[in-house]
Amino acid sequence: MKNTIKIFDTTLRDGEQVPGCKLETSQKLTIAKKLDSLGVDIIEAGFPVSSPGDFNSVVEISKVVKNASVCGLTRAVQNDIDVAVKALKHAKKPRIHTGIGTSDSHIKHKFNSTRDKILDRAVEAVKYSKKYVDDVEFYAEDAGRTDNDFLALVCEKVIDAGATVLNIPDTTGYCLPYEYGKKISFLMNNVKNIDRATISCHCHNDLGLATANSIEGVINGARQIECTINGIGERAGNTSLEEVVMILKQHEELNLDTNINTKLLLETSRMVSDLMGMVVQPNKAIVGANAFAHSSGIHQDGVIKKRETYEIIDPKDVGVNESSIVLTARSGRAALAYRAKNIGFDLTKIQLDKVYNQFLKFADKNKEVTDSDLPNIIQLAKI
Ligand code: KIV
Ligand code: ZN
Repeated sequence: MKNTIKIFDTTLRDGEQVPGCKLETSQKLTIAKKLDSLGVDIIEAGFPVSSPGDFNSVVEISKVVKNASVCGLTRAVQNDIDVAVKALKHAKKPRIHTGIGTSDSHIKHKFNSTRDKILDRAVEAVKYSKKYVDDVEFYAEDAGRTDNDFLALVCEKVIDAGATVLNIPDTTGYCLPYEYGKKISFLMNNVKNIDRATISCHCHNDLGLATANSIEGVINGARQIECTINGIGERAGNTSLEEVVMILKQHEELNLDTNINTKLLLETSRMVSDLMGMVVQPNKAIVGANAFAHSSGIHQDGVIKKRETYEIIDPKDVGVNESSIVLTARSGRAALAYRAKNIGFDLTKIQLDKVYNQFLKFADKNKEVTDSDLPNIIQLAKI
């Protein structure tokens, strides 16, 4: 039996913090319903104390989400927790996500405080949240740069206070995969009550390592990944949901899976991109426009003979109808014959040679050759 990794989606909280990505409540509801049908386990719906609009969105999302837990973010501040509890009143499965910075940098520069005082605030925030909801997740902000012994102590104390999930954020995206993995393994081995909680990975992408770090986290014992659709989020973004989900699906040897219906990944990605006005880069893994497009002659020849020669994912598994063979000046005869046949021209070998010469002349002058260009090219070849 595979171990299930819970998917905690924070598109509507960490993702929506991105400048220009702000959404209306109605748009957030559309996304929340989609995330629920996609199969995410937890939807972080917002930071209720941050604004009346965000509060209202969390209230409305709590009413419509049927399956996932709905989560509200708070600082380790009683008023934040009170407001989040109110916002989550209608949620079938409410979760409070409370926490505080634990790295020496945060303790000194953000809080002008001491490790002992931060530990007390962490414990108090969890105890206070626990009076209202069973499901309390604690985040140790900047855990990536927090001393491991102190982090383990914080984890042990907040578990005793009632935390059921421990979020270990690499807030600044600084950790290397082996380092982040070692941190999770250290906590698994040094927090004596760890069997009473789930460790969660929350990685940022400042060095392009958010996905790799999250995967190292679950390999080392974490059982929840916090991520966003299209990897949107603060600065360089968060771990991309579609990437971690497909990595776990494709790498069976890890013996880990998720509850995500992967066939909905592309349409969810497009919906979020459209509503937030955030274009997905064409070469984005899994959901980018070019993720299943083949343009060099060598690759096209292979894919036409057998898809698996150049594709490790069946496009249908992520909601893409089929791979595409793109015609450019780098394409070969196999691709040209394939595309011509698709629109009704079954060319013999001699005909193909002639058409190919004509095709190259055209392709050298144009970025791409489309189906509507082909009849013209074939006519000019006088076959
Ligand atoms: O990156 C981070 O540390 C966060 C916390 C608020 C969970 O987003
Ligand atoms: Zn974050």
